[in-house]
Amino acid sequence: MLIYLIGFMGSGKTTAGKKLARKLAYDFVDLDLLIESETGISISTYFEQFGEENFRLIEQQALKNTFKLENVIISTGGGVPCFFNNMDEMNKNGLSIYLKADIPLIINRLQSGKDQRPLIKNKSKEELKNYLSKLLSERESYYNKAKLVVNAKSLSIEALIEELKDKL
Ligand code: S3P
Repeated sequence: MLIYLIGFMGSGKTTAGKKLARKLAYDFVDLDLLIESETGISISTYFEQFGEENFRLIEQQALKNTFKLENVIISTGGGVPCFFNNMDEMNKNGLSIYLKADIPLIINRLQSGKDQRPLIKNKSKEELKNYLSKLLSERESYYNKAKLVVNAKSLSIEALIEELKDKL
């Protein structure tokens, strides 16, 4: 079984994914880290050198490469579900879980480490709030195609595993 954790930047996909993988004795893959190790440069540098359009192409390819894996939790970058037919492909090949977070939680979590995220690195506090609110509202319809939606703020890995039991 492949489990895709999807959701906005800062929703806690990587942290939750690692915990879930440990409990289920699955492997864990962070798609962004995979891309960084394959390209040899950071996502931020990739955006600067080659632009977002090219990033979305290699991101799609990295996602496709996961379809052949087994028993893996895959934490995906926040944009993955919103480009090409990635969301449908994830649903076809595995189980998608949307970690739903609201803007205050997202802003709180993104304050530190902002510079590693190319989409927000140069934004002031005020710009950040407007930008993130708009982007989240554009993306929610993609995220809501997930098979399971969980609240990122009150996420309990134990409760999630209970929900997953009959699906695994
Ligand atoms: C992006 C989210 C990032 C990373 C890239 C683009 C996005 O991943 O893939 O900076 O479009 O939302 P995280 O969601 O892990 O921060």
